[in-house]
Amino acid sequence: MAGNIPQQFLDELLSRVDLIEVMSPRITLKKKGNNYSGLCPFHSEKTPSFSANQSKQFYYCFGCGASGNAIGFLMNYDKLPFREAVAQLAQIVGMEIPEESRSDDQNNTQPIYKCLEQAREIYQKNLKTSSKAIEYLKSRGLSGNIAKDYNIGYAPDEWHFIIDKIVGRKPPQNHPIHKTGLINEKNGHIYDKFRDRVIFPIRNLSGKTVGFGGRIIGQGEPKYLNSPETEVFHKKNELYGLYEARKSCKELNQLLVTEGYMDVIALAEHGIKNAVATLGTAVTRQHIQKLLRYVENIVFCFDGDNAGKKAAWKAFEISLPFMRDGLLIKFLFLEHKEDPDSFVKKFGKDAFLEKVNNAVPLTDYMFGALRKNCDLKQPEGKAMYAKRILGYLKEMPEGVYKHILSTKLSEEISIPIDKFELFLKQDNEGKTENIVENAAETSQDDPVDERTLSLLLQYPEIVTDISIDDYRIKPYSRITKLFLKIFKTFSQNPEFTIANLIQSINSDKNHALQNKLVKLASTEHLISQSGVKQEIIGGLNRMQSHSLENEITFLMQKQKNSGLNDQEKQLLQTLIMQKQKANSRA
Ligand code: UTP
Ligand code: MN
Repeated sequence: MAGNIPQQFLDELLSRVDLIEVMSPRITLKKKGNNYSGLCPFHSEKTPSFSANQSKQFYYCFGCGASGNAIGFLMNYDKLPFREAVAQLAQIVGMEIPEESRSDDQNNTQPIYKCLEQAREIYQKNLKTSSKAIEYLKSRGLSGNIAKDYNIGYAPDEWHFIIDKIVGRKPPQNHPIHKTGLINEKNGHIYDKFRDRVIFPIRNLSGKTVGFGGRIIGQGEPKYLNSPETEVFHKKNELYGLYEARKSCKELNQLLVTEGYMDVIALAEHGIKNAVATLGTAVTRQHIQKLLRYVENIVFCFDGDNAGKKAAWKAFEISLPFMRDGLLIKFLFLEHKEDPDSFVKKFGKDAFLEKVNNAVPLTDYMFGALRKNCDLKQPEGKAMYAKRILGYLKEMPEGVYKHILSTKLSEEISIPIDKFELFLKQDNEGKTENIVENAAETSQDDPVDERTLSLLLQYPEIVTDISIDDYRIKPYSRITKLFLKIFKTFSQNPEFTIANLIQSINSDKNHALQNKLVKLASTEHLISQSGVKQEIIGGLNRMQSHSLENEITFLMQKQKNSGLNDQEKQLLQTLIMQKQKANSRA
């Protein structure tokens, strides 16, 4: 029997997996900021009460209370045992469950890896027999050493080369080769996918071959052919050359992200061994996460053409939420249709390294791009510029770096930084925008008030039965503030679900409050529908008397210290009477 999976592994796994990506092929979710909502897959419903938060990697259903992380979701949705769910997630992000805790029957990807490794070796060996392929690599300036380091191979111009070498023409149904992406099957015929191509094996972080890229020799279409997505190969997760870079750089502190296989290999040929490439896809969130596990310094290298600029902007947008303090992300643009491969060949290593050194820091890139068409001499221009930048600043984690950027912008548009940070806080879209922003106080939460709020969250329809204006409640705690605002929100928007509320709380520092709301919304109350109204009214009365007491104390204190004006005196009297009335009712 298998041992337990170490917690450390699970933590690591959960930090790499994206819950939203796990969910989205399975259920329909609508995005709103960091949050997604949709119909709950775990109970039947007509209006969405299921919500998932991307930054928190947590889902919650306000209808049935289902909640959890990516592992829990897979277990519940795909009806998998724990270990199997973990194994599936691990596969997505290219991790492996530690050997000692792996159970044998779950080891179903092992044969796929084995088969891929076999193919890698066969292709590599075969390169030696093809003068055509060798000549091609030479013509591209590659040495035998680099070809060896990167395990470059050659697939000959044959339909059944790899099939014959690995299994023969009639592989049994359950043969792992069917899951490798090495063969195509059409009308009952199977044939090699890669034919007459130079082969670049793609390896995951543990060095296992997970797929291949094949380049045509000379001209032709398609120039590159890549393995399809398989159980062990996910383009969005893999970075070509990362394994090799880690292996050959003793101290890896910077990674260069390029667009192609040949860029990585040509740079390595010139002694620059810290380059990786995306696999014909745009840079993804997973790529950034992966890179940031090894370095705090990333340089994106793009062609200077329009496509390159577009790709750079995409990379910028994806990186922004990761820009915690201490990270350095830069953008390198090459001119004149050069790519790193052609550039380093033409101008050499030092020239390329100089380019890397002079790459544009993310901040400059961002501010420069966003300043376009904004005339900073005019208020309109400043406002537009500020609006654009604010939109992006909101995506960033809190920290010194964000603060510096805010300061920079506030200086550029000459608005004091405190004013400016207020904008940053307030400029939140959606109906419930400031519900929680304003309510973030840190006094001890009153359990009775919490319960009242909890009931409101679970029975929002109650608002139509209670006239809140009859109560004089000045919020005295974050819970009462929340209660009143949520009450108002529900009255104004009968369609509103609690998911909507939670969705409005997406700034980082409100996690505590967000958690609280989730908790309160899910606490079980043994109470009948009719009891709810009574209890909420009781809770309101209590809040009111608490609030009255506060006001009275405040006014009495003032009377002592500096005296009251007539209006205040009258108010004090009214309050005291109200309090007495309330007490007699209670
Ligand atoms: P490029 O077209 O920029 O090619 O594609 P390259 O890297 O400069 O290649 P060489 O120098 O002509 O050999 C960049 C990347 O896009 C993917 C590959 O991953 C390639 O490395 N690509 C490109 C494909 O997947 N298929 C294609 O047909 C072309
Ligand atoms: Mn190229």
